[in-house]
Amino acid sequence: MKPVDVADYAANAETTLAPDVLGYLNGGSGAEWTLRANAAAWDRIRLRPRVLVDASACDTRAELLGSALAAPIGVAPMAYHRLVHPEGELATVRAAGAAGALFVSSIFASTDLAEIAAAATGPLWMQLYWLRDRDALLDLVTRAEQAGYRALVLTVDAPRVARRSRDLRSGFTLPPDVRAVNLSSELMAAAHVAEVGVSAIERHSRERFDPTITWSDLAWLRARTRLPLVLKGILTGTDAIQAIDHGTDAIVVSNHGGRQLDGVPPTADTLAEVVDAVAGRLPVLVDGGIRSGRDVLKAIALGASAVLVGRPVLWGLAHSGTPGAEHILRLLREELEEALILTGHPTLATLDRTALG
Ligand SMILES: Cc1cc2nc3c(=O)[nH]c(=O)nc-3n(C[C@H](O)[C@H](O)[C@H](O)COP(=O)(O)O)c2cc1C
Repeated sequence: MKPVDVADYAANAETTLAPDVLGYLNGGSGAEWTLRANAAAWDRIRLRPRVLVDASACDTRAELLGSALAAPIGVAPMAYHRLVHPEGELATVRAAGAAGALFVSSIFASTDLAEIAAAATGPLWMQLYWLRDRDALLDLVTRAEQAGYRALVLTVDAPRVARRSRDLRSGFTLPPDVRAVNLSSELMAAAHVAEVGVSAIERHSRERFDPTITWSDLAWLRARTRLPLVLKGILTGTDAIQAIDHGTDAIVVSNHGGRQLDGVPPTADTLAEVVDAVAGRLPVLVDGGIRSGRDVLKAIALGASAVLVGRPVLWGLAHSGTPGAEHILRLLREELEEALILTGHPTLATLDRTALG
């Protein structure tokens, strides 16, 4: 049966992926409270439709940091796409381009960053974790800049990878043929060492991520790139203002899809606080638990400029490569269009919190 919504793709992934890969993809940290709360919080928000509005012309197009998108939707940075499909990031970046979506590559992409850029037909950003090895970090930034990536996304909620029970139980380790090829094999070695009861990626992060960085270190990165800087993992108005004060170009309200600090609120509940603190001074993106175009509408109505979508894109990739991932992104855009028409807000520009009940 051809999948018709995101839930169908999720169900397919459950039955087709190897248990340890499924656990790494779908799992969260701690007791997975935040993971569950993310999707549930979007579900809880009700829509408040206006009727007898001319809905003949609906427009989902958006602009983000100077790039045009078919809808305010992007692919969240996720490590190792080749875990779920042999074409990996090449398949997903092609899908994003075909669907008019933003693509954010992970620093731990399993495909060469220049090959990803060559396959991209839409805007492309590069995500970074701050590595202790600043030369390696800088080298990656320089290569991303040269390859045509248009922004850097620094993930700030992960001085180390959190304990994720599913990975600890499976002793999750990267297979030898799925590697973070944009970093040296020496730098990535610990992510490939199997040990019962240990998550190799958690252990690797303790060895290689720099937990000492603070707001003042952002100037170092700023001074070495001309690309806009996006901070991903902001959850409070206070930190959003810090981000503005430190010259950030955009922020992503994110709890890492419930994979970092368990117990933090779902992003649907945090977004308004951040949007209100920012007061239009920079674009605010949001991710975590977005599973339909209605969820996208809710995020935009709350004041987000765009959403990032994580697991659903990899469920689509696991299903059928580019066509599956592209279908996920097109579905979300089409469901957004339908929701705009049916709520009586046919354009994104007229959408605000009055559309929410
Ligand atoms: C398998 C997987 C790998 C991820 N890898 C990264 C990563 O390398 N860098 C990062 O900033 N976030 C990473 N994330 C978090 C996503 O960027 C995003 O915040 C989250 O998945 C959004 O939630 P959703 O999956 O519910 O849509 C990853 C998420 C998943 C599911």
